[in-house]
Amino acid sequence: MPTSGLPPIPGGPRHVAIIMDGNGRWASSRMLPRVAGHKAGVDAVRRIVRAAPKLGIETLTLYAFSSENWRRPADEVSDLMSLLRHHLLAELEELDSNGARLSLIGDWRGLKPDVVERLENAMESTRHNERFRLVVALNYGGQDELVRTVQGIAQKVASGAISPAAITPQMIEAGLDTADLPPVDLIIRSSGEQRLSNFLLWQAAYAELWFTPTLWPDFDENSLREAVEAYAQRERRFGGR
Ligand code: IPE
Ligand code: IPE
Ligand code: MG
Repeated sequence: MPTSGLPPIPGGPRHVAIIMDGNGRWASSRMLPRVAGHKAGVDAVRRIVRAAPKLGIETLTLYAFSSENWRRPADEVSDLMSLLRHHLLAELEELDSNGARLSLIGDWRGLKPDVVERLENAMESTRHNERFRLVVALNYGGQDELVRTVQGIAQKVASGAISPAAITPQMIEAGLDTADLPPVDLIIRSSGEQRLSNFLLWQAAYAELWFTPTLWPDFDENSLREAVEAYAQRERRFGGR
């Protein structure tokens, strides 16, 4: 595979998750409407999805729309949904031809029926691809994910299938949207904010965190490489020594 200046980094992360923040500020600083920032954000997604496998990343999870983003004005929510309809799904062919599999986390089944249908088709048509996994967090909130997981376990308890004392961290993990994904190694957030904003709360337990002031539309291959190199220098301990 050609690596075009982006050779995999020894000791780099296998699973990287990104909080793609700063589209609105990117647009305001240019006197543009927020939707222009979201459009530029889609271009950044395309760049990063192409760059990630070249850096040795096997799974890339992107926070695209949170369960709290519905609180935004209706016109911004509708702009974000039409970008999802028209742009992200248009990238599907390229994903497929590059051997990438699309997966989703979050309550994405709660989106509009036409979007849900397209997403289901996209996942189905890339299901057998193994070279790279792109996971999009859509209508995702870590608290919502935990609530849905706990509800599933509570049902088993209520039916008498398991006792409360039998609940283990592994059982919770198996109920999360990320159950079939490798552990998250590195969480990146752009735009200078240093918070998780309800992203991967359980999965972040021992993930490395990397923050950059770069706004998401300006985030490029070099920004990703910088984060991956910083990760490779970290010492992970998981509570041991
Ligand atoms: C991130 O950019 C995109 C989404 C949350 C969908 P923002 O829209 O949050 O941009 P800022 O944080 O207002 O700059
Ligand atoms: C987090 O960004 C959500 C996504 C990037 C999709 P927000 O911009 O919504 O987070 P807050 O409101 O600044 O915490
Ligand atoms: Mg934001």
